[in-house]
Amino acid sequence: MSGSSQFSLSAFVRQPLLQTFTFLYVIFQNILIWIFAPSPPPSGPIVNDFPRKRVAVIGTGLTGVSSAAHCVGHGFDVQMFEARPKNKGLGGIWSRVNSTSSLQIHSIMYRFHPSVNYDTAYPTQQEIRDQIVDVWKRYKLEDRTVFETPINSVKQNKTGKWIINNDEDKWGLFDGVIASVGVCGDPKQPSLPDQGNFKGNVYHSSELDGKRVKGKKVLIIGGGASAIEALEFAVKSGAAEIDVLSRSDKWIIPRNVWVQSLLAMNIFGQETFLSWIPERLLHKFFYRDLQDIAPSGGLFTQTPMANSELFDQIREGKARWLRGDILSVKEDGILFNSRSKGVPTGGPGRESVVQGEVIIMATGFKRPSLSFMPEDAFEDPYGPPSWYLQVFPPNYPSLCANNSTYVNAIGTVGNMHIGIYTRFLLMFLVDPLSRPTEGRMKTWIDFTRFMKRLSPVGAFDFFTYAELVYWFVFVILVNPFRWKWAPFVLFGIGRSLPAQVVKQEEAFRNELRKQHAN
Ligand SMILES: Cc1cc2nc3c(=O)[nH]c(=O)nc-3n(C[C@H](O)[C@H](O)[C@H](O)COP(=O)(O)OP(=O)(O)OC[C@H]3O[C@@H](n4cnc5c(N)ncnc54)[C@H](O)[C@@H]3O)c2cc1C
Ligand SMILES: NC(=O)c1ccc[n+]([C@@H]2O[C@H](COP(=O)([O-])OP(=O)(O)OC[C@H]3O[C@@H](n4cnc5c(N)ncnc54)[C@H](OP(=O)(O)O)[C@@H]3O)[C@@H](O)[C@H]2O)c1
Repeated sequence: MSGSSQFSLSAFVRQPLLQTFTFLYVIFQNILIWIFAPSPPPSGPIVNDFPRKRVAVIGTGLTGVSSAAHCVGHGFDVQMFEARPKNKGLGGIWSRVNSTSSLQIHSIMYRFHPSVNYDTAYPTQQEIRDQIVDVWKRYKLEDRTVFETPINSVKQNKTGKWIINNDEDKWGLFDGVIASVGVCGDPKQPSLPDQGNFKGNVYHSSELDGKRVKGKKVLIIGGGASAIEALEFAVKSGAAEIDVLSRSDKWIIPRNVWVQSLLAMNIFGQETFLSWIPERLLHKFFYRDLQDIAPSGGLFTQTPMANSELFDQIREGKARWLRGDILSVKEDGILFNSRSKGVPTGGPGRESVVQGEVIIMATGFKRPSLSFMPEDAFEDPYGPPSWYLQVFPPNYPSLCANNSTYVNAIGTVGNMHIGIYTRFLLMFLVDPLSRPTEGRMKTWIDFTRFMKRLSPVGAFDFFTYAELVYWFVFVILVNPFRWKWAPFVLFGIGRSLPAQVVKQEEAFRNELRKQHAN
């Protein structure tokens, strides 16, 4: 246990309810670990029921580390590749953001590997990074990782094995590849018009550690989750004035595990005739007097931000949230065109200079490239995110872009689906009869598009967690050869039975081949 969340008698006396919940939460996680966490690999060579298979894992963020831990835990061999040096790459984006960053969602929805054990509901950047490094060490991935090795090419040879960076001699051949490059690459820092005029400092929202804004007027550009974090940083640092300059309205929902779970339970993964209910409830009970910044578009079309304090800070006058366009930067602020609700970007409004001494660019991150993958994985109309289960390019069931293709969602990035996707890949690798053909993969994509044809955004541009689970179950049910794998793929248990069946099927097929040859 670490830091402020340590159990102690005095903490219990001070906060009996919170400490009891925390204690129960830790016990609950231990039960999950006991049931679902695969055993770490032995120190020697990996021996198991499966035919020996090797998987390349690209990226050492939580997705890569979790995927690799699942692979070795189930007896597969892995090699991890990370573009950045260890201190910036291990832990992925969580190694490169502010120490004040923390989870927006409850950590029960961010147990990115079954062996993770949080002792707080909303862990900070350091606690999350520590959990990632712990899993990496626990599953003996240290010897299987190379840092400062960007992957720029992933190609299949004639036998279907994968060659990494065109260097078979150095890295050998791989049966499968997991591309876990994430969606947050380098900071995106667009140049603002006439930015050179500004006489104060300009920082990106991910680089606020050690920056002093006490007593200063702070301008925050952008209206996403990072803008909210930057606002919280400025409030805590004692900034004199805080203005958030946002060019579009985004949904903000309470930081409450029940609200988040209920919204994620929309199995259709799109706006439905019932969507007005949560939207109206949020307007009435959460936004209340702040209707001006409440979005009018559908809730089930973009990733909402989860925060419960922001509106209070606005109500208390600690910060202002302004909608409009940046016209130019002046030496002491920004000439801003404030637009009324509903007026589109670039539309008419009222121009004024919003004073500022520091600018924080909460303008997001560049998306890491997936172009190391084969060219035909990007062919229209089956380019990412329109892939099989959103992560397997049609015709490449041995290539899984785990957590690297999503655009918008109500759910979580770091949860059990990482293991499920990994085990789909492992099933496809060891059981030829479970593998989808290119045609079946495309049919599933077309079918999902058809089911979501009424959605105001593209079928794969938004999904919910319940929809994801429905995809998993559906894809297992439609192929009887996958039924035996269901407990393994969905829960990571019971791998011996399907492994034995596959062995027998293989022996049967070999016998048939022999007879055919004679
Ligand atoms: C401040 C912050 C808070 C967040 N909070 C939440 C939250 O509350 N809930 C939530 O669900 N999500 C949250 N996210 C989103 C977050 O991106 C994911 O939850 C998660 O950390 C992504 O992990 P990942 O491993 O998929 O990607 P990353 O952590 O980005 O790791 C990818 C790794 O791949 C490496 N890489 C990329 N390209 C290559 C290449 N070609 N070759 C080799 N290596 C490569 C990168 O260097 C990187 O280390 C947050 C993001 C930020 C920035
Ligand atoms: N604690 C947390 O959970 C947390 C914290 C931070 C980040 N994150 C995650 O990290 C990811 C990135 O979030 P983010 O907030 O950094 O980025 P983001 O969601 O991409 O938001 C960037 C914001 O900047 C605006 N913007 C971009 N370029 C601009 C420009 N040139 N001029 C004016 N405005 C501009 C965008 O406006 P438009 O939308 O109009 O383009 C948007 O409002 C998300 O997945 C998010 O959930 C999570």
